[in-house]
Amino acid sequence: MPAIVLVGTQWGDEGKGKVTDLLGERMQYTVRYQGGNNAGHTVVTPDGEKYALHLVPTGMLTPGCVPVIGNGVVIDPKVLLHELDGLSARGVDVSLLKISADAHLIMPHHRALDRVVERYLGSARIGTTGRGIGPTYADKVGRMGIRAQDLLDPKIFRQKLELALREKNQVLVKVYNRKKIDIDAVVEEYMGYAERLIPYIDDTRLLLDKALTRGEYVLLEGAQATLLDVDHGTYPFVTSSNPTTGGACVGAGIPPTRIDRVIGVIKAYTTRVGAGPFPTELFDDNGKHLLKVGGEYGTTTGRERRCGWFDAVIGRYAVRVNGITDLFLTKLDVLSALEKVPVCVGYEIDGERFDEMPMTQTALHHATPLYEFHEGWSEDISAVRRFEDLPKNAQAYVERLEELCGTRISVIGVGPARDQNVIRHDMLEA
Ligand code: IMP
Repeated sequence: MPAIVLVGTQWGDEGKGKVTDLLGERMQYTVRYQGGNNAGHTVVTPDGEKYALHLVPTGMLTPGCVPVIGNGVVIDPKVLLHELDGLSARGVDVSLLKISADAHLIMPHHRALDRVVERYLGSARIGTTGRGIGPTYADKVGRMGIRAQDLLDPKIFRQKLELALREKNQVLVKVYNRKKIDIDAVVEEYMGYAERLIPYIDDTRLLLDKALTRGEYVLLEGAQATLLDVDHGTYPFVTSSNPTTGGACVGAGIPPTRIDRVIGVIKAYTTRVGAGPFPTELFDDNGKHLLKVGGEYGTTTGRERRCGWFDAVIGRYAVRVNGITDLFLTKLDVLSALEKVPVCVGYEIDGERFDEMPMTQTALHHATPLYEFHEGWSEDISAVRRFEDLPKNAQAYVERLEELCGTRISVIGVGPARDQNVIRHDMLEA
């Protein structure tokens, strides 16, 4: 029953593409289980081609691997088709793609509401990607959503859209002073997408069950990350889905008993885009250094990422919430040339020490990091492939993070190329 979950441990952009680079060829299926085109994975194929994927699973780039968009994903059909066309134009075979009939569709009113609500929130805004993600999930839970399967039946599609727009148009016009959305134009647009998307729509939970029963490898690929989880993250500054391991079961329709390994991707420092608390955030030259050396600009929105030191409270929390069996530490090379490398080992909040994530959001907003200072290393480590060849101080840094997070660091990324890794353990083996 080899189902493997891949999760981000911080606020996203940890470099999940590196893991899929490493494991992709051993997988028969890769599944996106939540999020939508708010995500961005950068993947470099063996022939050196670089791809920025937003909606399709990374398995799309591995010949023979079946990419699946699970029921937990929200799909903007226009974006998906654009992505598929772009991949086809570069010679990628997209014909194996499967889309869950139960995945929800992002509609024009969702995009409109995402943008207008953010503007309305002013300084209290979330800093969303503006892609309509939150409103689509809200309608899913509010039982007003439109699903991929509705594309199969134009009559039902129109009926559901009519019902949704009856309310949404009132809100857009009367609350936010926007133009109303024209139903005929939307039906026409989406029926055009339907023609192209219908061949990919499938019963993906049955497909995955059969694959797992045959003993095939299925990688459940999370987008965003633990602290952006709507239940376990820094609410309300989160995305509207569950990137954590539990979300993988729900969003792919496979039971927890099928999951063997959970791989957590963790950056050797911390970044975040959008608003919300970030205890180790740097506002000085060190922050600028990480931004520049780490190339910390969003794949989806191009926004500058906020940068800070490694936070072991978050690392421990992610291990605990997700049941992580292996950590993949990315971007260790970005820390080379620093004299001292600080690591946050706990917080001080109103005079009290916290070793674990505080219970309330207010407390997290008031957290002051408690740092341990590690000796840095000046060597370029980008060509290192064996742990024992890393500078002693880099080895000590990794071992300390491992100890603080409470699980093994199995792979260390030392550069952006797919082979720039130090492998210590096979992540698929206990
Ligand atoms: P939304 O997912 O567009 O609703 O945005 C909600 C929050 O999640 C914002 O702070 C976004 O910046 C953040 N977010 C969404 N997707 C990603 C991602 O792939 N990486 C990092 N942050 C993300």
